[in-house]
Amino acid sequence: MKVKILTHSRSETIALGTIVGRELYRGDVVLVNGALGAGKTALITGMVRGTGSDDYVSSPTYAITQHYEGPMPLVHADLYRVTHPRELDDIGFEETFDGMNIVLIEWAERATELERLAGLVVRCSSGGAQDDRIFDIERRGLDIDRWVALCAALGDAVVLDAGVVV
Ligand SMILES: Nc1ncnc2c1ncn2[C@@H]1O[C@H](COP(=O)(O)OP(=O)(O)O)[C@@H](O)[C@H]1O
Ligand SMILES: [Mg+2]
Repeated sequence: MKVKILTHSRSETIALGTIVGRELYRGDVVLVNGALGAGKTALITGMVRGTGSDDYVSSPTYAITQHYEGPMPLVHADLYRVTHPRELDDIGFEETFDGMNIVLIEWAERATELERLAGLVVRCSSGGAQDDRIFDIERRGLDIDRWVALCAALGDAVVLDAGVVV
């Protein structure tokens, strides 16, 4: 099951992420894939806001993961620089998935074994105009009731002018 959303600006993408983030709970894992500049960090910024955190969000640069303060513990990972899954073993990455953290992962395709942990997988890509971005949000392990609730909440994205394409 998939939903496809088009946004026209970074702020619309943050608004989209906020809607998704409001539906997230402890233990959820969201994989966010797509090329550089596709809007992964912008989307995750919104997701973090949606969980109720107002911590500063940026792509983890030197560390692979960073933690944010908020009502629920958040981990933001960026696997861009990971060339071998062993590097994740070395930093004890699997301990992140303790059922307590919400884990948001950019460049998750660098570690395909993460797929089995995912509640949602988002593919970000460019659209027609320069600032258009397309977000394909796919259900993985997320409970069907929660997926339905998410889709209902995403209906509001139309109101935010982030038109639903499909
Ligand atoms: N619709 C949009 N959604 C998200 N970012 C956009 C959009 N339009 C333009 N941008 C710009 O594209 C860039 C996306 O950066 P970022 O979110 O860091 O991408 P990524 O993490 O995928 O590399 C930012 O400079 C942002 O201002
Ligand atoms: Mg990024």
